[in-house]
Amino acid sequence: MNDILSSQQLLSFLQTKRLGHSLKILSCTDSTNTQIKQNYKDAPEGFVLLAEQQTAGRGRLDRKFLSPKGDGIYFSLVLRPNRSMRDLSLLTPLAAVAVCEAIQTVCQIAPSIKWVNDVFLRGKKICGILTETCGLSSDGCPALCIVGIGLNLRFNPATYPELSRIAGSIADAVETLPTRAQLTAAILNAFEPWYDALIRGESEQLLQAYRDRLLCLGKKITVQTGEVSYPAICTDLTADGNLVVQDQQGDMHVLQAGEICIRPANA
Ligand code: BTN
Repeated sequence: MNDILSSQQLLSFLQTKRLGHSLKILSCTDSTNTQIKQNYKDAPEGFVLLAEQQTAGRGRLDRKFLSPKGDGIYFSLVLRPNRSMRDLSLLTPLAAVAVCEAIQTVCQIAPSIKWVNDVFLRGKKICGILTETCGLSSDGCPALCIVGIGLNLRFNPATYPELSRIAGSIADAVETLPTRAQLTAAILNAFEPWYDALIRGESEQLLQAYRDRLLCLGKKITVQTGEVSYPAICTDLTADGNLVVQDQQGDMHVLQAGEICIRPANA
């Protein structure tokens, strides 16, 4: 398939006011998030660093993110929101919503979200999001936010049998894949209005859009925090995007994304 990832192509699909107008495409790098921290720290808000391939793609909880050449979209978006960490707690959920909306617009399929940052299609993870911050101003705002997005367009389970149960791709659900340029631009197009609203302090609609796509609400799950795991029912989502769960003793817990992961009770 003719899927050349070029700035020109991407810009032709871009409808944003400021996100993605400044961008760079690397053919191969360790990790676009790492590269931003090392070499693009002064990049302006909206700068996007893409890679055809990553050799050390990173995910949450120090996990690796597989990024084979040409099979996915791997990019980091630079933001300078000048807001406190608390105000930015919905940045990762926002990115997950934007990815889902972009896929829905371009591919006419409706992905879901596994709290907090994974996009799922047909029961498999197709996208992960890693948000990182750098520096802190005197008023407690991060100097830089890096939103790293990795989305599988193709994934061959035979090549990675150890991931075959959990990883999937857009190709599993569509006959004709969109180009990476089209889908990347669609993600940025969906991201910007939600981001503008978040910066204005308006997050009700975003929270609802996130809730609507969440897989776990009302379901039995297993909560894993470090070595400890326990069964629970997922009852709600707080305004900060934290998950409220009730354990078998009836006690309520508010889970923050940090070191916790959840899985369906029967998985
Ligand atoms: C996760 O699955 O927990 C998050 C994965 C995030 C992967 C993206 S790919 C672009 C950017 N660079 C990285 O090293 N990670 C993010």
